[in-house]
Amino acid sequence: MKTYKIGIMGGDGTGPEVIREGVKVLDVLQQKAGFKCEYVDFDFGGDRYIRTGEVLPASAIDDLRKVDSIYLGAIGHPDVKPGILEKGILLRVRFELDQYINLRPVKLYPGVWTPVKDKGPDEIDFVVVRENSAGIYTGGGGIIKKDTPNEVAIQEMVYTRFEVDRCLKYAFEYTQKRNKRNTLTLCGKTNVLTYVFDLWERAFHAMGEKDFPGIKRDYAHIDATTMWMVKNPEWFDVIVTGNMFGDIITDLGAMVQGGMGVAAGGNINPEGTSMFEPIGGSAPKYTGQNVINPIACIAAGQMMLDHLGETKAAAMLDQAISDFLGSGTLPGLSVSDIKKAGMSTSKIGDAIAQRVQDM
Ligand code: IPM
Ligand code: MN
Repeated sequence: MKTYKIGIMGGDGTGPEVIREGVKVLDVLQQKAGFKCEYVDFDFGGDRYIRTGEVLPASAIDDLRKVDSIYLGAIGHPDVKPGILEKGILLRVRFELDQYINLRPVKLYPGVWTPVKDKGPDEIDFVVVRENSAGIYTGGGGIIKKDTPNEVAIQEMVYTRFEVDRCLKYAFEYTQKRNKRNTLTLCGKTNVLTYVFDLWERAFHAMGEKDFPGIKRDYAHIDATTMWMVKNPEWFDVIVTGNMFGDIITDLGAMVQGGMGVAAGGNINPEGTSMFEPIGGSAPKYTGQNVINPIACIAAGQMMLDHLGETKAAAMLDQAISDFLGSGTLPGLSVSDIKKAGMSTSKIGDAIAQRVQDM
């Protein structure tokens, strides 16, 4: 039987609560689908930082490299200055483990309300491949003459051909494997960012023409992309874009698919250790109340199984999530909807685990 070592990083706020439900579901799936997970706990986050001053030591990075996959709850603590934990934990793991793809499906499950009028699960089903290792996130910069009237702030968007090519290759291959509309849309800003997106555009067409003749290539500017995502989401199959634009459009994507309560993502290193997470934050004000929606985290676990090659278990879990959401048990995905339905974080986890058990 295949055994996977899973690094568990509950993190801050409601992160540990949603991870608990994700693990609950994984535990049932192991028995049903015949594999085994061994969990290794990584207790990093705001509380530990406040207690010990330690954000994420180099030894933890080495240990994280050794697991088969990382399952992350959420990072962000109200008593820690913004940036310290996000950069020191989340971005540090992404960069050090070279998780150069951020894969974020935008999929409307049946029974889930979307603010996009007259669109349903048939229209809202696309995937964003966000470059996750470079761009403006890691470009040079600095502040000169701080706190003077002549202050200068610089933040550079830098991409190498290598970084662009490896992301495009993943996106083309993913589009091929998905085999839905076989269309890959490059989202850029070639009309203004004429250096960086010129490189992206040339690389996109060169690779597509040479190696992926069966994939249709499309292009949309970032601003137009946000418009089409709302107006005609069915136009998209797979979108590939840089780090910053990908960050922004996947929050929009989360809303289009019904809210942060279902939005999951994978930080993927196709040759190394990947990390899966719900893309919403740590929701500190709900910590310990057992009211936050764990479905995004459970869906991140689903992506993790798929990535590990446990495709049968992944398909079962996708069905269980879909059936649960389609059953009408929840009137919506928010905390107030969960309370209204007399549900809770752990009850939702139980319900999905039970559906898997009954399959
Ligand atoms: C995300 C988040 C992170 C990002 C933050 C917390 C650093 O917004 O995963 O999308 O900007 O990538
Ligand atoms: Mn974001």
